[in-house]
Amino acid sequence: MFSAIDMAPRDPILGITEAFNADINQNKINLGVGVYYDDNGKVPLLSCVQKAEEILIATPAPRTYLPIEGLAAYDKAVQELVFGADSAVIQEKRAVTVQAIGGTGALKIGADFLKRFAPDAEVYISDPSWENHRALFESAGFKVNNYAYFDAATHGVNFAGMIADLKAMPRGSIVLLHACCHNPTGADLTSDQWTEVIGTISSGGLVPFLDMAYQGFGAGIAEDGEVVRRFAATGGPLLVSNSFSKSFSLYGERVGALSVVAASADEAARLMSQLKRVVRTNYSNPPVHGGKVVATVLTTPELRQLWEDELAGMRVRIKEMREAFVQKLAAKGHDFAFVRDQIGMFSYSGLNKGQVEQLRAESIYAVDTGRICVAALNSRNIDIVIDAIAKVL
Ligand code: LMR
Repeated sequence: MFSAIDMAPRDPILGITEAFNADINQNKINLGVGVYYDDNGKVPLLSCVQKAEEILIATPAPRTYLPIEGLAAYDKAVQELVFGADSAVIQEKRAVTVQAIGGTGALKIGADFLKRFAPDAEVYISDPSWENHRALFESAGFKVNNYAYFDAATHGVNFAGMIADLKAMPRGSIVLLHACCHNPTGADLTSDQWTEVIGTISSGGLVPFLDMAYQGFGAGIAEDGEVVRRFAATGGPLLVSNSFSKSFSLYGERVGALSVVAASADEAARLMSQLKRVVRTNYSNPPVHGGKVVATVLTTPELRQLWEDELAGMRVRIKEMREAFVQKLAAKGHDFAFVRDQIGMFSYSGLNKGQVEQLRAESIYAVDTGRICVAALNSRNIDIVIDAIAKVL
């Protein structure tokens, strides 16, 4: 029965980690996957997470099933973080949130839900986008198209192309947008450009689906969430997937959420009942631990402050690495000033596939597209990376 099955291609991002793990070179460097490492090259265990876990251990609780939609305290805290505590969509009970298995799980719930209720719609993702976006929506049964986004010549956004593509989409099309810290390019829209995008999406009758996996890694928690609030203020429909993998350094706990904004409280209740069906038929209900940790941090004022400070520390260190990257390459005669202007964990470095392969031969791993994770650079490995890049340029 299985004899005719072909080998599937390696995942473009996690496949790099597989190759990295198999490399026996002690000095190997993984700039592939989007994971934040501290200056010692370690994935941090945040103090706010440790303190929340101490609180949870002090009050042992049985591991019964969570409700299908997840922990109530978590869903509420997520809504307040994503939309703002004073948001009209929360006060009017027009927003519904389900705990999800990471940001990917949230996207999958949203995709399956949309396929049930908008089966003929097509999905549009940015060109380029996170590698898994296309695969995820295709696996839910959608035709997935690109809209213009990145301009390789300027290392910025091809805004005229983007707006033209948005205007050409049929009403009811689903548009996947990165709320902040665009993955993979690191090129975000300006506030004025967002105003135009939001207006075009509203007037064109398009359905925005905002993916926010990097809140807090751009300008700040509130600043990065601003776009979600502006979309919510248009009244919906709106879907938002968010993840705490990076912002809480809780990658393996798979903590994310999907929020949907409806036109009325009644519509929201019906939406929630359908989202629960999607969850129930995929994995029944979410795991407990990560949701409890995040809810405890977000609702305990001292821990919340600690989290904000720790996240700010990660954000600042990434910016320092960007600056060092630019300066060190400049010292070798290469102009990478654009890396300074990019935002979030990633840089679309402009390195081509052949150059990335040459780097891999030196045990430095990046995505084939030239995306590098700036958050994996540190004061110990940056010179090795710079020397290797200078060599392949
Ligand atoms: C990435 O883009 O590297 C991260 O979002 C991790 C992943 O799942 O691909």
